[in-house]
Amino acid sequence: MSGSTASLQHEIEALRREIREHNYRYYILDHPTISDHDYDRLLRHLQQLEAELGEPVPADSPSQQVGAPPSSTFTSVAHGEPLLSLANAFSDAEVEAFARRLTDQLGGATTRWIVEPKIDGLAVNLRYEAGHLTAAATRGDGVHGEDVTDNVRTIADIPWHLDFGTQSPPALLEVRGEIYMSKAAFAALNARQQQAGATPFANPRNAAAGSLRQLDARITRERQLNFFAYGVGLGGHALAESQSALLQRLSELGFAVQQTTLVDDVAGLLHCYRQLQQARAELPYEIDGVVYKLDDFTLQQQVGAVARAPRWAIAHKFPAEEVTTQVEEIVWQVGRTGVITPVAVLQPVAVGGVVVSRATLHNVDELQRKAVYVGARVIVRRAGDVIPEVVQAVDVDAAAEMPAVPTQCPACGAAVYRLQDEVAIRCSGGLSCAAQLVERLRHFVSRAAMDIDGMGDKLIARLVDEQLVHDAADLYSLDYSRLTDWPGMGERSCAKLADAVAASKKRPLARFLFALGMRHVGAATAAALATQFGHLDAVMAADEASLLAVPDVGPEVAASVMNFFAEPHNRDVLARLRAAGVEPQVAEQLVSGHPLAGKTVVLTGSFQAVARRAAQEQLRKFGVKPASSVSKNSDLVIAGERAGSKLNKARELGIAVADEAQLMRWLAWSPEAQDTQAAD
Ligand code: IVH
Repeated sequence: MSGSTASLQHEIEALRREIREHNYRYYILDHPTISDHDYDRLLRHLQQLEAELGEPVPADSPSQQVGAPPSSTFTSVAHGEPLLSLANAFSDAEVEAFARRLTDQLGGATTRWIVEPKIDGLAVNLRYEAGHLTAAATRGDGVHGEDVTDNVRTIADIPWHLDFGTQSPPALLEVRGEIYMSKAAFAALNARQQQAGATPFANPRNAAAGSLRQLDARITRERQLNFFAYGVGLGGHALAESQSALLQRLSELGFAVQQTTLVDDVAGLLHCYRQLQQARAELPYEIDGVVYKLDDFTLQQQVGAVARAPRWAIAHKFPAEEVTTQVEEIVWQVGRTGVITPVAVLQPVAVGGVVVSRATLHNVDELQRKAVYVGARVIVRRAGDVIPEVVQAVDVDAAAEMPAVPTQCPACGAAVYRLQDEVAIRCSGGLSCAAQLVERLRHFVSRAAMDIDGMGDKLIARLVDEQLVHDAADLYSLDYSRLTDWPGMGERSCAKLADAVAASKKRPLARFLFALGMRHVGAATAAALATQFGHLDAVMAADEASLLAVPDVGPEVAASVMNFFAEPHNRDVLARLRAAGVEPQVAEQLVSGHPLAGKTVVLTGSFQAVARRAAQEQLRKFGVKPASSVSKNSDLVIAGERAGSKLNKARELGIAVADEAQLMRWLAWSPEAQDTQAAD
């Protein structure tokens, strides 16, 4: 391998890791940290590099996949037909190229397009058996999703039964569409969140995803979700001959569908785009672009699909909102790893529905490239919930004084250095830099990490400032009743905070590992480490070979983990955390030897002694694969009371059926009991 190929490989690996991390944050945590726009840029960059490398692209590259694998909280279900994603266009030229490509491919025949608003929600697959809703799943990785049937049943727009009139309903029909939260429901939910002291949701999409993925379906019901149907999967292709006719048919069957427009050339597509861009603010729900689809199903089939997306459709995204304002000051912010980032303090301005007064400039190179100085007029962009950024300066005054790059850490005064090949400048103060400590603690207590409610930024800053806290372990030995005379900290708040700190002692290992803030270990990598090793001691003792065996862990990540745990200060903090009772919960490991291990089992109906979902969870620990629908691949159906169509289907297919008594025996199974029996 030549040097440049090696570095290209390296860049591709790093990019894949970064994108997986963003997938995880978006799909699993419902908490993205970059805008869709920036995400798309990363994905495109990866596709370019993979093309440049010219080697076969592995199937697990994010460029080949849709979304993230389902999280383990819900049962995984296979979709009858995969759920695809859409390619994106960001400019008129890209739309023109798309239309030309298709027209050429179809031999220049006149084509008819349907234009649909692109709803900013999350895709689901609904399964109807003989017209009855039997299962609903999120998109997941496109092939398998999470079973959210109970939750979906609380959504009023989703019919439980489809009315086929005099016709007999198809044995199986998959209906696809988008679950979303209206702007009004979103505003009301966030008002409630704020009142309860909980973090508000960043945007309606996150709120919808977070509300759907609730183990308690009653919460989903309270959140008021909506649904638009826009497609079909297995069993649906005979319903109509075109997308426009299909939407009509879905509407007759009882689904809500959006208003769409049919056009027959690119000018028509772009006209619709601009109209919808105008109408966007007036719509009762968020849209983030427009989808163009070939209307005719025969033509759709003719052009086919690539790995992630059909060739017959494209999403034309709206640009992120931008406004112009003035830079009042440039400050240098010290992050938890010592990276010092320039931030523009702005004359406050409204963009994308919120008032923005700070925007990141990313790094010194960007600052200089964008020619940002105090007094400059700048364009600021904000997409979704993410940190606003300065796009560029306008009317640059060539005589203006450019900001000086600090040579000392603005927080602790230690020298600033820059590693070769890195754009970032860093503070060399290490453990003695209070700003780094504040940021490490903010990360430690954050929602995706130890999730300590009520431990706000101001409080952390003061705890550090008053030298009451020197590291994460100090959070667990602090006497919170001492803080009652601090601003905003009554007796009640202090007691609540102490409870929240205590409650965080038993977080899952994945969160704890993420909270430690090891370099290159994001939430997704932390989760992979926890699953692989199961226990904190095992992670701490892991050698390079066993770390490299973890999915997504390369030499850089492995070195970072080993260095972290070798560091005496870190070992000391870990020992004190454990002494204070912090006990990361052992990641679930499979118990082997169960009689149903490896079998695909469907639970249907209701059980007296155990909730269905709890039973599924327990069975999963025994290595059983719970599934939500009966097929010839099912090994067993366990039927409770009022078991209906699934039980019938099992009988039709000749699949073994068990009852609740048998289920309870399987749930009570333990390897120890087997050993004793064997010894007898
Ligand atoms: S069609 C095979 N139509 O956007 C076609 N998708 O970025 C797949 N979306 O996964 C989808 N509005 O979750 C389609 N009118 C619409 C849509 C739409 C929103 C979502 C959907 C899809 C994602 C792709």
